[in-house]
Amino acid sequence: MDTRESLCESPVIIADREAWKETNLKDAGTIEVEIGFGSGEYLIRRASEYPDRLFIGIEKKPGMITEVSKRVASRNLNNIRLLESCAKDAFTDIFPASSISRVYSLFPDPWPKRKHSKYRLFSTEYLRLLNNRLIFGCEALIVTDSEDYCNWMLKQLPDTGFEVENSTIPPQFDTRFERRWREQDLSTFFRILLKKVRHIEASPP
Ligand SMILES: C[S@@+](CC[C@H](N)C(=O)[O-])C[C@H]1O[C@@H](n2cnc3c(N)ncnc32)[C@H](O)[C@@H]1O
Repeated sequence: MDTRESLCESPVIIADREAWKETNLKDAGTIEVEIGFGSGEYLIRRASEYPDRLFIGIEKKPGMITEVSKRVASRNLNNIRLLESCAKDAFTDIFPASSISRVYSLFPDPWPKRKHSKYRLFSTEYLRLLNNRLIFGCEALIVTDSEDYCNWMLKQLPDTGFEVENSTIPPQFDTRFERRWREQDLSTFFRILLKKVRHIEASPP
């Protein structure tokens, strides 16, 4: 049985990072990763649409993992794995270089206060790690409601090996946060699409 088969046959949806370290995801076929999946709507939709791909959802809130794991089980989806972790640790520990086909993060926490900007996920350092884990030519999609966070991310991009396409977009993902913003009459979001055009070597631990 190859890694892909054993991952898909496992009834375990919640897995810990230590256990995942033992798995060679290089043999798992096409892998898509959602960072901060929240209520999991988009992850579940994509996994239903692409049953031949493996979807790994990373979320730091245990409550969301439990909530979404029930939804995944009730839909009999066997191509989703949920990992309770900070995305930085998950990318450092479980994914080999050049192993991921697509990454997305919808409405990542914007940390609007200046003194909290150090908590923002998509820093230059993290983008370099993301680059290392993505397959050459593959893409990462980030959508935010915060123009300030969008502009901050664009400034982080030099030397991360990505070609960037950024634009404003209307609501289209139907996630909990997107619905929340719509209820507050927000109908324009900021989309950053990153395409890996140069490989960045991982920095030493
Ligand atoms: C604003 S919510 C958006 C949730 C969902 N994507 C949506 O559109 O409804 C941000 C989510 O990202 C998660 N999150 C924030 N930072 C994270 C990190 N470093 N690693 C993993 N998840 C994170 C939060 O727990 C939260 O569920």
